[in-house]
Amino acid sequence: QERAMDSHQKMQQICDLLRKEIPYYNWVGFYFKNGDKRELKLGPYAGEPTDHTIIPFGKGICGQVAESNQNFVVPDVQAQDNYIACSITVKSEIVVPLFKNGENIGQIDIDSDTSDPFTEVDERFLEFVNQKVAEIL
Ligand code: SME
Repeated sequence: QERAMDSHQKMQQICDLLRKEIPYYNWVGFYFKNGDKRELKLGPYAGEPTDHTIIPFGKGICGQVAESNQNFVVPDVQAQDNYIACSITVKSEIVVPLFKNGENIGQIDIDSDTSDPFTEVDERFLEFVNQKVAEIL
């Protein structure tokens, strides 16, 4: 008998699909607030494994979005001083917060090996993806 996919498996499929279908999405992952701690914990992702499975609030692009509640588009990661490098091939990044009942509970993080690829279309699309994910959490 088949069992329904749980939310973790669904998020894994979203990561795999986005990475496969969008050529400039080279690493796709979800981070979530780690319990009551002021830190993020890596959830499902697609791409190279990263050492940064825990990111304190305020640290890097991800940690800044945990506090700002705003999308963060980075056209050139080398121009950022509060940035955590996961791979030397990465040139740009976008992080979009994920809200559940109005609360910032996590984020989707995309790394790209292309410079300056992200537009408002990516922002609206990733906001939509996060809304859909919030509904299954
Ligand atoms: N670059 C991120 C860290 C996460 S890795 O990209 C997977 C940051 O600066 O927060």
